[in-house]
Amino acid sequence: MSQISGFSKLTKLEKIDWITTHYLSNYPQAKSVIKQYWNSDEALQKLHDEFTENTISNYYLPLGVAPNFEIDGKLYAIPMAIEESSVIAAASKAAKFWLDKGGFKTEILGTTKVGHVHFNFEGNPEHLKAFFNSVKSKFFSETASITKNMEKRGGGIKDIQLINKTDSLKNYYQLYCTFETVDAMGANFINSCLEQFGHTLEAEARSYQEFISEDTYPEVIMCILSNYVPECLVRAKVSCPVSALGDTKEEAERFVRKFSQAIKIAEIEPYRAVTHNKGIMNGIDAVVLATGNDFRAIEAGVHAYASRKGQYSSLTHVKVEDGNFKFWIEVPLALGTIGGLTSLHPLVKLCLAMLNHPSAEELMRLTAVAGLAQNFAAVNSLVTTGIQKGHMKMHLMNILNQFEANETERADAVEYFKTHTVTHSEVINLLKKMRA
Ligand code: MEV
Repeated sequence: MSQISGFSKLTKLEKIDWITTHYLSNYPQAKSVIKQYWNSDEALQKLHDEFTENTISNYYLPLGVAPNFEIDGKLYAIPMAIEESSVIAAASKAAKFWLDKGGFKTEILGTTKVGHVHFNFEGNPEHLKAFFNSVKSKFFSETASITKNMEKRGGGIKDIQLINKTDSLKNYYQLYCTFETVDAMGANFINSCLEQFGHTLEAEARSYQEFISEDTYPEVIMCILSNYVPECLVRAKVSCPVSALGDTKEEAERFVRKFSQAIKIAEIEPYRAVTHNKGIMNGIDAVVLATGNDFRAIEAGVHAYASRKGQYSSLTHVKVEDGNFKFWIEVPLALGTIGGLTSLHPLVKLCLAMLNHPSAEELMRLTAVAGLAQNFAAVNSLVTTGIQKGHMKMHLMNILNQFEANETERADAVEYFKTHTVTHSEVINLLKKMRA
């Protein structure tokens, strides 16, 4: 294994030469695999190469579509970028299921985003408070050039508060800053404002009389947005009479009993909650990725929200009231439909066009719905047939692809596994028999 300096300055072909020589000598096809995934359209390839650094190829994810989502009375086909089998099928099935039961309803509970200037101060907290109040307006005036365009679009800085955190950490204070970023995810805007707040804080402190006489000044540690956005929150729900959930009264009641208990288990048992929410994120991440948003930010924020009461818990909830089954999700989603990749990546542009160019709020609504639908489908399977049945059907296709099964072999295998359990070895045995 080797080390190198100046790797980033090499051309793409030189990078490939270096990496294949030093780390892929055990993989003779390396160069051809890397190149196989290049796009023949040079401009498009250049665009992808420039999204990030040290690129050698493209990493594909399947892009699928889950149709028939009725959300707040409007029909959507939701684009989903995900490699996991069954997820898009499950979303589509849940969408269809709720289509004739009133569809999904959503509500935006807030769109506030948060960022901090984290700083140290060793002096008198009362002096710091007085200083903050005397210079607060400067934080706004000195970011005017950054906030001008955002304000034109209806956003901007909402508030800035001084928070004393010295009970938890010696000398630690923050400027707790809230923002409205409208249709942008807003990371650049927020971080630019925060860095200016940091400069203003330090510069103004230098001429503040109390600090000069005490010979102590605030020292900025860092300025950064938070991906924890409990006030950028959306709720999505479905409801229907309990009787609509089974062919007979007994069947419907059994389903609701088991389904509700499954949700309550995820509310109180973190082991289950993690898997339960993972299923929700199958839907959410797939939409987040397809629409060019930052799924790591969403993941971090969602899981923090799921732990906000001190124990990791379910994002979805259920209630049966007056013979009605009600199932909902509440989830923080700081999403954008302008800026970032949204105007650069051709497939992201296509996905946003498929959704008829949604606002960020609309994207929050339908992403939450994708999560709720996914959870409904997963828990529905878990409390009835189990998930393996559906999974293994898709898994069968993956195994058949892996062994390059032809059309006849595929059709025969699908027929055979209608009455047999799919296992990796069973599929291989069947293919061997067919090919003998
Ligand atoms: C698999 O990707 C997701 C599930 O495990 C979710 C769940 O258990 O609710 C099926």
